[in-house]
Amino acid sequence: MKNNLIILGAPGSGKGTQALKLVKDYGYKHLSTGDLLRSEIAKGSDLGKKVSGIISAGNLVDDLTVLELLKANCNLGQTAYIFDGFPRNYEQAQMLEKSLLSDVKNYKAVYFEINLDSLVERVVNRRTCKNCGEIYNTKTKPAKNEVDCQACGGSGTVVQRKDDTLEVVSNRLNIFKDTIGPMLNYYESKGLLVKLDASKDEKALFEDLKSAIE
Ligand code: AP5
Ligand code: MG
Repeated sequence: MKNNLIILGAPGSGKGTQALKLVKDYGYKHLSTGDLLRSEIAKGSDLGKKVSGIISAGNLVDDLTVLELLKANCNLGQTAYIFDGFPRNYEQAQMLEKSLLSDVKNYKAVYFEINLDSLVERVVNRRTCKNCGEIYNTKTKPAKNEVDCQACGGSGTVVQRKDDTLEVVSNRLNIFKDTIGPMLNYYESKGLLVKLDASKDEKALFEDLKSAIE
């Protein structure tokens, strides 16, 4: 079986974009904790109500809440998973190791390395299909008529995430800067870390990613 994959990277580094490509070409299951949390908000569940303000402000939801959500959506052993957006800090890396990956030793961590200054523009121009999750960019990869999704045929379904504003993205990037170091050290010390240059275009990065997982 393929390795399970942990994708680490800053907001806008391309985690979701590359994960969707791996799902299409390799049959991975994609677990994005951001997507799971946003789906709780869209459903109006108690959890969604609890986390809505935290996400809109670009802060992190508490570790245990996210871990429980992840566990409820994950059945390791059957298929290879991509973990996108989890872990987010050293504590979550430990939690993932102890509670989900303890029996499954086959995993790798891939870090999308990129200068953070280049990411604001990517993030504020991102648009996402609320039906199928397809990721667009108003400047580099526009949706049809700006709001229609070519991937699922949705009409008017391509929208901007609430946390993709200029003010919120700087908070998200600052949190990333404060939390990434210990996680990288952790996976590096276990010999499980691969670093990729995420300033490359989508296709070139995907080629590097494929070589890293094969
Ligand atoms: P989450 O949804 O995980 O957001 P994030 O980590 O900030 O990452 P993004 O989704 O913004 O970026 P991405 O790397 O997926 O980039 P994408 O491929 O879309 O989390 C959101 C929030 O949920 C958090 O702030 C927190 O509140 C909460 N949360 C989630 N997980 C949590 C956890 N574990 N613990 C606590 N709280 C948690 O691409 C971005 C744009 O760039 C697109 O427009 C795309 O078209 C473009 N692009 C992609 N690749 C390239 C490329 N190679 N070149 C040029 N442009 C590109
Ligand atoms: Mg994402």
